[in-house]
Amino acid sequence: MFKTIIVPTDGSKFAEKAEDVAISIAKNFNGKLVVLHVIDEKLIYPFEVLEDEGKNILKNASKKAEEQGITADTVLIVGDPTHDMSKIVEKTGADLVVIGTHGKTGLEKFLMGSVAENVTKTVEVPVLLVK
Ligand SMILES: Nc1ncnc2c1ncn2[C@@H]1O[C@H](COP(=O)(O)OP(=O)(O)OP(=O)(O)O)[C@@H](O)[C@H]1O
Ligand SMILES: [Mg+2]
Repeated sequence: MFKTIIVPTDGSKFAEKAEDVAISIAKNFNGKLVVLHVIDEKLIYPFEVLEDEGKNILKNASKKAEEQGITADTVLIVGDPTHDMSKIVEKTGADLVVIGTHGKTGLEKFLMGSVAENVTKTVEVPVLLVK
């Protein structure tokens, strides 16, 4: 049913769980896997550092996929993770989004973080929230 599965990841332990679920779904549906990291344009931090961090996050996820026999496409983009995520997800043509309930902030007293909430509200395709 699902042809292109996308997993946005910030490298947090929540996102790592989402990566594992996305890999397993891609494998089971024989679908394409896209791993996406958005470098937060609002962060006041040297770009090279954020870029390296992003590349590492994507490398770790695609390595896990590789171990399961899946070749993942990786997307690294600069933007606003909360506001641009849906647009980016739609551009990839994904028909399933797999995302962690929480991320780096990880305040579990809230039902979910702002990136997860915004994606759930705004994308047209099914969203699988991984907790
Ligand atoms: N910069 C990002 N790039 C790609 N995916 C992201 C990014 N930030 C978060 N995500 C995805 O969204 C999920 C939820 O993270 P989110 O950022 O919403 O929660 P949080 O960090 O706990 O809270 P908040 O960011 O609102 O302070 C993560 O597990 C990950 O799948
Ligand atoms: Mg966050």
